[in-house]
Amino acid sequence: VAIDDLVLVSNRQPYRHEYDDGKVTVDTPVGGLASAIDPVMQRTDGTWIAWGDGDADFDVVDGDDQVQVPPSDPAYTLERIGLTDYEVRGYYEGYANQALWPLCHTATGRVSFETDHWEQYRDVNAQFADVVSGHVDSDTTVWFQDYHFVLAPRMVRAAAPDAFQMQFFHIPWPAPDVFRLCPQSEAILDGLLGNDLLVFHTPRYCANFLQCVDQHCDGATVDWDTDSVVSEGRTTQLAAIPLGVDAPTIRDTVAADDSVAWAQFRARHDVGEETVAIGVDRLDYTKGIPRRLDALERLFETRPDLRGEFTYIQKGAPSREGIPAYQRLRETVEDRIRALNDRFGTDEWSPVVYTTRTLDRDVLYSLYRHSDMAIVSPLRDGMNLVAKEYVAAQVDSDGVLLLSPFTGAYEQLGEAAVAFDPYDTDRAAEAIERAIEMDDAERWRRMRRLRRAVHETDLAWWLDEAAATADDVRESRTHHN
Ligand code: G6P
Repeated sequence: VAIDDLVLVSNRQPYRHEYDDGKVTVDTPVGGLASAIDPVMQRTDGTWIAWGDGDADFDVVDGDDQVQVPPSDPAYTLERIGLTDYEVRGYYEGYANQALWPLCHTATGRVSFETDHWEQYRDVNAQFADVVSGHVDSDTTVWFQDYHFVLAPRMVRAAAPDAFQMQFFHIPWPAPDVFRLCPQSEAILDGLLGNDLLVFHTPRYCANFLQCVDQHCDGATVDWDTDSVVSEGRTTQLAAIPLGVDAPTIRDTVAADDSVAWAQFRARHDVGEETVAIGVDRLDYTKGIPRRLDALERLFETRPDLRGEFTYIQKGAPSREGIPAYQRLRETVEDRIRALNDRFGTDEWSPVVYTTRTLDRDVLYSLYRHSDMAIVSPLRDGMNLVAKEYVAAQVDSDGVLLLSPFTGAYEQLGEAAVAFDPYDTDRAAEAIERAIEMDDAERWRRMRRLRRAVHETDLAWWLDEAAATADDVRESRTHHN
């Protein structure tokens, strides 16, 4: 199934053009959204509208700010929207990432609502809505991604009442008691109800959203039997479709892997034959990295025999560095790792290997394949695609997935993973110990179950489900109108 005449809208673009020594280079941004959606777009031949944040971005586009991508093998159109520094601070660093991001992750202590940020956020949503409206006719499907565009759907609806609009939220939706902290709660719900279809990763986030509408939206009525909302005479259908990873591609890449990348990585970082755990995260406070390091510290305190026998590899991707909380998080993580290595390390061995180098996908997959376990420990996470990538790369089915119960991935795959509670240091340390000692039969049994689930609900499945759900909703809309 593909979606015809698709206009996809996200904040983050899939390809960024930058100047490097006077030459134009292309890079792909870190983070689950852009890397997951790019293969989807490659299958659909639509237009992707996003913020052009690279310094060469507008030197490679045509007169309509469009460029064909992927640059190596063009398959679809990327249309860029430029933002001023002021807009970036208010809309992206401000309201999106210091209000909505912490709010939706229930990090209430980190939330700040500034009127000025809100105004910039609204204006940037209006700019995107304008560009989108220019692309739309009655056959178009507009597909918004994520929390950067909670107002645009209502705006596009006003300009193009017939367009089919859907949105996928990559992050959690919080409980009503948390959401009510937001001074703009009504406007946000109303904006999202401009969609015909609103999709979250899990039924829990859908239920949270419906409860928020029920409690905070006077003009809207929730139909609990059909998981839908009627507002302003129109229906918004809710659905839970967990995002997947491109499992066959990961499997095939790993199958062709000759272990050279892994051997080079180990040589560079002095990793020997010991048991290896891996963590791969954007350096974001929701990922629970300091608490993961607490658990490792507890482990080496209680099990001194593991010194020299067990190494944790932390791959960190710097993220949103214009925001103080992210700068502080990065410093905290790096200080804690230094302290751990000073305390437990020897001349030949460091308990934690830390790198922020960008790794090619095949190198990353090789690391996944050869690591004995992955530790995925967010305090809250909409899904967490690292967990699924690790599983997809486990072609030998001998690795263990340690997974926080507060991720969408755990709600979907939970039982076969080993629960890792980031809030309980003793139990988290025990979980690592358990993974180290787990016998081959149990590792294999658990990983086989995880692999089945990750392959059954992979990226192609997700796209099919989203397209089929959109078709159903479009059809029922036609009948009602
Ligand atoms: C999460 C969000 C995405 C975002 C990504 C990277 O996965 O759901 O929308 O693109 O983080 O963050 P950034 O702010 O760099 O785009």
